[in-house]
Amino acid sequence: MCGIIGYVGTSIRSQFLIQGLRRLEYRGYDSAGLAVHQSDRFYLKRKIGRVIELEKVVDDVPLQTGIAHTRWATHGGVTEENAHPHLSFDQRVILVHNGIIENSKQFQTKLKESGIELQSETDSETLSHMIANLYSGKGPFGEDIDLETKGNPLESIRQCLRLARGTWGLAIMFVDRPNELFVARNGSPLVIGVGDQARYVSSDPHAILPFTKQVIFLDDGDIAHVVQDDVQLSRLDGGTTNKLIETLEEEWGDGEKGDFPHFMIKEIFDQPEAIRQCLRGRMVHDEGMAKLGGLDMEPKDFLSLSSVTLLGCGTSFHASSVGALAIERLARIPARAEIASEFRHRNPVIDSDSMFFAVSQSGETADTLGAIREIQIKGGTTMGIVNVVGSSIARSCGRGVYIHSGPEMAVASTKAFSNMISAMYLFTLQAARVRTISSAQGQHFCSEFQEMPEKVDRYLQKPGILDPIVEVLAKAKIIFFLGRGFSAPVAAEGALKLMEVAYIPCVAYPSGEMKHGPIALLEKGTPVIIIAPNDPLKHKTISSLHECKARGAIIILIHTQGDPIASEGDYSIAVPECSELFSPLLTVLPLQLLSYKVGLALGRDIDRPRNLAKSVTVE
Ligand code: M6R
Repeated sequence: MCGIIGYVGTSIRSQFLIQGLRRLEYRGYDSAGLAVHQSDRFYLKRKIGRVIELEKVVDDVPLQTGIAHTRWATHGGVTEENAHPHLSFDQRVILVHNGIIENSKQFQTKLKESGIELQSETDSETLSHMIANLYSGKGPFGEDIDLETKGNPLESIRQCLRLARGTWGLAIMFVDRPNELFVARNGSPLVIGVGDQARYVSSDPHAILPFTKQVIFLDDGDIAHVVQDDVQLSRLDGGTTNKLIETLEEEWGDGEKGDFPHFMIKEIFDQPEAIRQCLRGRMVHDEGMAKLGGLDMEPKDFLSLSSVTLLGCGTSFHASSVGALAIERLARIPARAEIASEFRHRNPVIDSDSMFFAVSQSGETADTLGAIREIQIKGGTTMGIVNVVGSSIARSCGRGVYIHSGPEMAVASTKAFSNMISAMYLFTLQAARVRTISSAQGQHFCSEFQEMPEKVDRYLQKPGILDPIVEVLAKAKIIFFLGRGFSAPVAAEGALKLMEVAYIPCVAYPSGEMKHGPIALLEKGTPVIIIAPNDPLKHKTISSLHECKARGAIIILIHTQGDPIASEGDYSIAVPECSELFSPLLTVLPLQLLSYKVGLALGRDIDRPRNLAKSVTVE
């Protein structure tokens, strides 16, 4: 979603802000803009479309203080006027904003009544005018009251934000303060990078990682005054706060495409190594045990667990569904996956012996953060299963497991799915070893787990003949995905992926459900992708296959290598053999590849599908 980059430091060139925006592009956006402080005014450029469009109109100007933004439209359409930065009526204040100001309609009305002509439909613009009014010593809506905010940027920002309801990550410049940046956070992430005679600001640590690894993460309610060699932190309520400078961990992998044409395909092929990274140092084979230091749990803590709930959205929910099956199956702890966006609105019962995992690639998903907050309010224990180190979810949970996928840049999540499952399986092993399984069973689990990266690699090297299937799928009006048990969430993940990347309606069901309604949609020639690895439920899935076949469906069957059921498919794709538990790590691969290839065949924007954002920071 929206992204912020800011700079204050020794003189460089405006191109720096463009480079910063490029590193935010993967998050999804529909317009971009930047502002550079220039003695008595701001140099301002905005453009709809990609950063490259902005780059074409930006002059090479010196930069000492500047802010830039990628916008994903929420309030108001995709227009140049609605793009950020937003300049105040008196041209003295300019800002970029991530988040949503819920009461901006009232602000707009009052500002208009005071005679200010709004330039955009956005909620964000209102803040620039209100801060400018306060900074000039008036009330936020131009009232003639003498406030002590006159000439005081921090107090002006505070007074403005105290009136606002909603979420913000803000970076603000004042025309009469050439070497100063002001930032504020509430519900929308912001990080300050500490460099040598330079400070960087961003909504995403990834954007500033090439310049510095020393960072300060802001918390909700923080405001910071940033100059090239210092950061002064304070609170919205006027109080003080201190924060440590943290060192960002060296990430495995890189955020570049290398020789691959798209991030999505690169990230699919990253999976063998990504799973290795997740397992590294976390299994003790001799004891048949896993050790997840970030959980900080003793064996007795596992014994007293009454249930485990895994919360996530989209792909993270699907991975959670696989994880819940494994935890319950092996560790014998009641476990369920829940859609985070639903969870907190149903006044959930939180039991103090339960454990709640927030599962998220980006660590910034607002719905998942909302669920954590609700659990914490009710006294529950939350842990993160997160990819992005230092992200809001990781920080608000405090404890958890990093999945170590390396940066995932394509909007369609692939390697994070595999690594979330891997992290949950490590938890499963640790819990099961305490509660249910013997050392020999644990060792067997470790051995099979360790073989998975090689099996994933083996499949990716020889994925089967996919092109004829791609042709069928690319022409389809609707595509069904069916699976049972561990394959049901894989079916859901396959459908999500193909919808996202190819824009084809896809329907996923646990295969037994097909006959209870969805089968009415089947017509002669409708593609049905059936996931039936060699597990105890396979024969039941094959009954569903026959029901679809009898109605003229084209069957695309994903099965275990060497299984004679291959002949049941009009098209069949074999994956290497493994136990039922580990099958999602393999059966998802052909679905990822098919989505990629169908998207490509249809000329879709693979890495940045329409209307989508990489991290969904609004509810
Ligand atoms: O960053 P998160 O894992 O919390 O994101 C959750 C979903 O928004 C995400 O998985 C989304 O569904 C992906 N685009 C799926 O490919």
